[in-house]
Amino acid sequence: MTNLTFKVDVKEYEEKWDNSVTVLTVFFDKKKNLVLDDRQLEASGLDKKDIKKLADYHGFKGNVGQVKLVSSPYSSNANDKKRKLYLLGLGDLSKATVSIMEKAGDKAWDALKGLGEKTVSVVLPLSKDGANSEVKQTEFFEAFIHAFALKSYDFDVYKSKKDDKESDADAKLESVTFIGSDKKTLKALSSEAVAVIGGVFATRDFCNEPPNELRPHLYAKAIKALFKGTNVKVTVLGEKKLKDLKANLFLSVGQASDSESHAVILEYNGLKKKSTQKQPIAFVGKGVTFDTGGNNIKPSNGMGEMKMDMGGSAVVVGLMKALNDRKAKVHAVGIVGLVENMVAGNASRPSDIVTSMSGKTVEINNTDAEGRLVLADAMWHVQNKYKPSHMIDLATLTGAVIHALGGEYAAVFSNNDEMAASIMHAGEVANEPAWRMPLCEGYSESLKSDTADLSNIAKAGTGAGSATAASFLKEFVQDGVNWTHIDIAGTTMMKGGWSHVDKGATGYGVRLLDRYVRNEFEQ
Ligand code: BES
Ligand code: MG
Ligand code: ZN
Repeated sequence: MTNLTFKVDVKEYEEKWDNSVTVLTVFFDKKKNLVLDDRQLEASGLDKKDIKKLADYHGFKGNVGQVKLVSSPYSSNANDKKRKLYLLGLGDLSKATVSIMEKAGDKAWDALKGLGEKTVSVVLPLSKDGANSEVKQTEFFEAFIHAFALKSYDFDVYKSKKDDKESDADAKLESVTFIGSDKKTLKALSSEAVAVIGGVFATRDFCNEPPNELRPHLYAKAIKALFKGTNVKVTVLGEKKLKDLKANLFLSVGQASDSESHAVILEYNGLKKKSTQKQPIAFVGKGVTFDTGGNNIKPSNGMGEMKMDMGGSAVVVGLMKALNDRKAKVHAVGIVGLVENMVAGNASRPSDIVTSMSGKTVEINNTDAEGRLVLADAMWHVQNKYKPSHMIDLATLTGAVIHALGGEYAAVFSNNDEMAASIMHAGEVANEPAWRMPLCEGYSESLKSDTADLSNIAKAGTGAGSATAASFLKEFVQDGVNWTHIDIAGTTMMKGGWSHVDKGATGYGVRLLDRYVRNEFEQ
């Protein structure tokens, strides 16, 4: 598993800290003047006038992500002369948003990674009680550290030659110390951030694995190994057990694969005695380790993209790791359905009818609409066994969502307005945007079958492929369960537009759901 390559520490302005390589973060104001906080400067041992002169001389304007090394002739002390001072622009103070602050963080990584510095101290921009209280330092810090750490991720396990590795210099950065004003809060935020980033990295690692190395039985094993020695209880269900549970829809998807289908259940209970949460929250992930389409085979061009079809499951795994590692005060259950949708003599045929765990019969009119079959039984099982109050499923479910929202937003479908709003809000704060789309009677109507209770695809001409898929899932939500489906087909792999990820898997969803859990379950 990929881990953060550097340590993160926090110090107060007034403390002693290693100032040999200092990054001073700077906003500019309405008049385009650099905003230099006295406390910040004092901590760095710098003079306002000198900094302004240096900034001018080096053409530093404070634009978001602009980084300049300015030499240090501001002191007569010989030791000081060896110090390196970088200015990092944060842009217009009055326009600071989470996504802009994240941009500053990932640009900072890009700027620092090639420099070969071992230790760096980043002086945070604003003190809580300082002059520029528009932006809370804690918010800035959280956004910055997330983006900085996310950008440091590199998936290079399959590259044999060191020279092929993109940024050898990355490894040189050993520790980053953030200098701010409220150490206790910043420390707590930093260890939370490191835990959450660890979850995101796990998600990205699984998504980036090639499908031959992540066949369902291998994936199940890897998940078990990941949670060894943690407070997450792992239960692995193989085909025999799944048959006993009547997970026939689920099993139909993997029946042509040589790798055994598995469901993996992850349970984490971090509730304290006085906690009020009565029922768990459940997360369900589509884990199709490769989607050929089955007998409704996909076109050969771009089929390799379908290694990402386990993206939903990877988010559930990464999220459970994050919740465990940051000791979240929540009771959460995750279930992932791991199957490989292949073509062989015993593969499902379009028009097969299969009875789901819920008892509803489904006519499989398209073997490429397989994710909903896996989710239907996984959702049913987790509801039967754990009686969750809330259930969120994540899936790279439809190509249609890419047409609708591209790689910028995931689509949210829900039977509960408040829940949908809260998830969108969490997405905004975590800079993993999500947008709600509708469900209605008409979409459900389109899933009628002549011979079974349901068809797994909508009648020709219905359109709205993402909404009809969501409507299929809704048939498997039990009464009283608050349910949200997130279609992440567009956001799972980098498609451009996200500066904090270079390429490959984004890990989209972990930070959003971690934030949602914090907002809704841990208060
Ligand atoms: N895994 C695909 C959806 C997908 C497409 C994910 C592109 C990521 C990128 C899913 O199983 C699928 O094949 N969906 C079909 C549904 C159709 C047959 C009703 C689709 O979207 O075309
Ligand atoms: Mg498919
Ligand atoms: Zn699929």
